[in-house]
Amino acid sequence: MAGNWILAFLFLASIAKAEVFYVTSLRYRGNSKGDITQAVANAWRDACASPWPAKVIIPKWEYYLRGANLKGPCKAPIEIQVQGYLRAPQDRSRLIQQGTWNLMFDFVTNSIIKGITSLDSKYFYINAHECRNVTLQYLTITAPEDSHSTDGIHIGSSFGITINHTTIIGTGDDCVSVIGGSKNIIATNFICGPGHGISIGSLGKYPNEEPVTGVAVKNCTLKYTQNGVRIKRWPGSPTFRPRQSGTHCKQDDPSKVKISEIGFTNIKGSSATPVAVKLLCSRK
Ligand SMILES: *[C@@H]1O[C@H](CO)[C@@H](O)[C@H](O)[C@H]1NC(C)=O
Ligand SMILES: *[C@@H]1O[C@H](CO)[C@@H](O)[C@H](O)[C@H]1NC(C)=O
Ligand SMILES: *[C@@H]1O[C@H](CO)[C@@H](O)[C@H](O)[C@H]1NC(C)=O
Repeated sequence: MAGNWILAFLFLASIAKAEVFYVTSLRYRGNSKGDITQAVANAWRDACASPWPAKVIIPKWEYYLRGANLKGPCKAPIEIQVQGYLRAPQDRSRLIQQGTWNLMFDFVTNSIIKGITSLDSKYFYINAHECRNVTLQYLTITAPEDSHSTDGIHIGSSFGITINHTTIIGTGDDCVSVIGGSKNIIATNFICGPGHGISIGSLGKYPNEEPVTGVAVKNCTLKYTQNGVRIKRWPGSPTFRPRQSGTHCKQDDPSKVKISEIGFTNIKGSSATPVAVKLLCSRK
């Protein structure tokens, strides 16, 4: 299958007995070879409002999808099953070019997201915001090397996120980035690169930003990455950041972000530059 991306078998919980919402039903009118963005959004909305366990099913055909925002909280568990292939629309209308292909999970709890394969999409990424107890497993995201600056998985304001058995190749930015308000984030058995590596931050960008705590990266392989694991901070105070031209800030302002209890153990590898480990602390 040429270009773009494919998404198959996505489960948000496995349910035996459920009310079933087919995106291809008369109610949602999703067609094979058609754009099912709206059909998926409507089926999700109804499934989420269902007081009984629900299943959203995308049957075994090929479709176009511009993106999906799977927003909770829902009334009962939902399983969403992608049996077919989803592709990003080919046409280069302005709307599509601006939007990164973004699978968004907002306010999702106690869920497993697994078995997503995204092939050669320049824009695909997964965004988890305000999620609790979510496991991302068996994901494969590959992007062409000239990919735009998008992260693989971006986590913010979330608690208890596990990323397991996942491969992210060639996204133009971080494989995983974790920002403010996130707690207990674990990445294990993870393969990343080329790309920027695994990042916490940038921190200290917004006023009253919640801290990031309890991030663990274990038994992961990072190949041809710009960095391995890193913590990024904005210099200066978020409430008063003197600006130079554009959006850049004064690099020599000390950061107000405090970093503590960091451990690196049992790391093996080679570095393309003379410095393998760099601790750049503020002067004040
Ligand atoms: C977390 O989610 C899993 C799977 O979705 C569920 O089995 C488990 O009970 C949840 N844990 C808590 C503490 O709710
Ligand atoms: C990762 O997946 C394996 C199953 O292959 C499981 O045994 C392990 O507990 C998982 N790790 C985490 C942190 O959930
Ligand atoms: C660690 O990762 C390697 C290679 O990715 C894998 O073969 C091995 O089973 C993993 N170990 C554990 C304890 O998960």
